[in-house]
Parts: sequence; C-alpha cells; structure tokens
Amino acid sequence: MPRFVLEYLEGGAGDEATLSRERAAFADWRFMPHQLVDVADRTLEAPILGKIAPIPAVVAPTGLNGLFRRRGDILLAQAAAKAGIPFTQSTMSNERMEDVAVVPGLRHWWQLYIFGPDEIWQELLRRAETCGVEALALTTNAQIFGNREWDARTRISRSMPSPATLFDAARHPRWAAMTLSRGMPVFRNVIDFVPKERRSFFDSAFWIREQMPQSLSWRDVAKIRQRWRGPFLLKGLLNLEDVRRALDSGVDGVILGSHGGRQADWAISALDLLPQAREIVGDRFAPMMSGGIRRGTDLLKALALGADAVLAGRAPLYGLCAAGAGGAACALELLREEALDEMGQLGAVSRADLTPELLVSAHQGFRPASK
Ligand SMILES: Cc1cc2nc3c(=O)[nH]c(=O)nc-3n(C[C@H](O)[C@H](O)[C@H](O)COP(=O)(O)O)c2cc1C
Repeated sequence: MPRFVLEYLEGGAGDEATLSRERAAFADWRFMPHQLVDVADRTLEAPILGKIAPIPAVVAPTGLNGLFRRRGDILLAQAAAKAGIPFTQSTMSNERMEDVAVVPGLRHWWQLYIFGPDEIWQELLRRAETCGVEALALTTNAQIFGNREWDARTRISRSMPSPATLFDAARHPRWAAMTLSRGMPVFRNVIDFVPKERRSFFDSAFWIREQMPQSLSWRDVAKIRQRWRGPFLLKGLLNLEDVRRALDSGVDGVILGSHGGRQADWAISALDLLPQAREIVGDRFAPMMSGGIRRGTDLLKALALGADAVLAGRAPLYGLCAAGAGGAACALELLREEALDEMGQLGAVSRADLTPELLVSAHQGFRPASK
C-alpha cells in the first residue's frame, strides 16, 4: 500500500504517546495460570448488549475504509457477520448504510459524529432506524480533529495531494486497482449535506470537520437519548468522572478509548481505566473498551479487567488490507482461536473464569489486579 494509506491506518496524534500507551498498557499485565483444571471444553461465548456472540468483540467504526479496499465497509461487515459479532459503521464510511444493512446475518451498529445542524443527525438516525441498526455509538472525543502530522504531509493544499502522494499512489498499481477502480472514496452517507463545490475527496472531509460543533455536551447526549430508542453507547471516554456521569445520562454503555491514539495525545489508555470504571458501573451497564487489541491475550486481559466487550479497529483492518473480506474474517478468527488456546493455558473455561484474580501488574511490582 502507498505510505500515506499505511500512515492513515497506523498513525496517531502528536508524539503518538497515547498510541504507544495503548499497546504498552497490555504489557503491564501478566497472567498467573491455573494448572490441573479440566479445560477440555472451552468457550468464549458471551452476551454483547444482551445477545450472545461467539466472542465478546465488536468491529470498531473506522472511517474511510474505501481507501484500504473498494467496498471496504461491506467487506468488513461480511467478516463480522461470519464471526457472529457486530460491525460498527462510521458516519465517515464510504458505503451507504442501506447497502451495509443487507449483509446477511449482520449485527449492524452505527457510529454517530455530530456535525452541522441537528437535522443532519436526526436524518441519519431516521435512516438507521429504517435499516434496522441495532445500536448507536456517539463518538465524544473527536469534535476537534487530532493533530495528525502525517496527514498534513500528504497534501500541498486543502484539496490537492502533494506530488509525492500522487507518485506514491502510482507506484502501487495493485492497490490502486483494488481501491480506486470507482474513483476516490466518497463519504456516501453524508455527502449530500456537503455544499456541491466542496464535494471533492479532501475538501469534503475538511468541510465536515469544520461543521463539528466544539460545544458538544451532555445536553446533546440527552437530546439523542430522547430520539434514539435502541441501545445507545458513548464512545471515547477516558475519565472516571465521565463514566459516573454516563450512568445517570440514560445511555446503555460506554466504550472507553482514545480513538486509537488519534485524538488527545499523552492520554492514558482504556485498559488503564478499566478496573476502576468497572467498579463504578458494577452491573448497571456495559463498560466496553477499544485500543490496542491485536492478539487473543489482549482480549483476555481486557475481559479479566472488567470489559464486557472489546472493539477492534486496526486488527480487522490489517486483514482487510491483506485479503479483503476473507482477510478480515481471518483476523477475527485468529483473535478467537488465540484467546481460546490461551484460556486453556490459564485454566479458564469460560468468560466467568476471566477475572482480575488471573492477573498481576508488572508495573506495580507484580501486585495482583484483584487487590
Ligand atoms: C483508520 C482509523 C479510522 C478511524 N475512524 C473512526 C471513526 O470514523 N469513528 C470513530 O468513532 N472512531 C474511529 N477510529 C477509532 C476506532 O473506532 C477505535 O477506537 C480504534 O481504532 C481502536 O484502536 P485499535 O485500532 O488499536 O483497535 C478510527 C481508527 C482508525 C485506526
């Protein structure tokens, strides 16, 4: 893939300190395996928003999947359906939500960005309802676009890619054939809201960013809660006070996370917050997390520290880039297989066995997570 595409996939904001914390946080925890447990029969089945799934994982919303593969959103949705887990479609996706909704067997979630007048999100929710979208996730941490320096390097102006970017694309004909055969990706779900003269690829993204109100607040959460009848999640929280506040806001869950390290720099990771967040919410609703999930062991650590489910962004995207829907499905299957194998190593047979008691913090002199 061209460098600018890989940067878009892997990059973070600023010094990428938040991004690197997302992986480092997992390395802070070590397992204390149990032996002499009958682990012949293991399962990771668990409910996600009340419905059983083979693993408590969700494909995270990622915008611009069309830059990785033509029809990327549909291919990811197909992979998620095959794995029996939800696919979250981004407001900045490139396929119409109506076209994703018809993927057989799909649990279709919608990620909402707020921009422009209220009529825009109201219209998106109306369409989501008609499509049978199961759950709505409002992204709360991206009203101000993160300082992604690699992003600025790809262009010479707002609407013009740099000669180096064009050269880079030309040097990757296989990628170009697989992604650009319909032209540059279009933000199909929202492009009609963009003024006609600003609908080019780069410019439409800028226009949408400019319309994102920096005043987004709990008042908007209340308005959306009133309007959306299905499960409603807040995505992108990283502060315990906000988790407490979410409990009283009428939402059905929170997705802790830092947008894959692409927004606030030098932030903690969702995993750092998870044990205390779980303590606060108890069983009142589902704390989920996103950030840094690459292997089955990561999934197990997040579950043991209190997550009801994890959202994986880049992991299925790597699969998508490598081999389309089959590649994304393979990435999700690897997560499941690795997790089930490791559960056997740990003496755990089901979700119920994945508790803080299994973990010690290497960071805090190997103190058990349970105390
Ligand atoms: C390429 C890319 C695009 C993303 N686009 C969105 C988006 O449109 N909306 C959103 O809420 N989060 C977006 N995110 C954040 C993801 O939903 C998720 O929180 C993050 O990727 C989790 O970290 P991981 O990639 O390490 O799994 C994006 C992340 C990546 C890597």
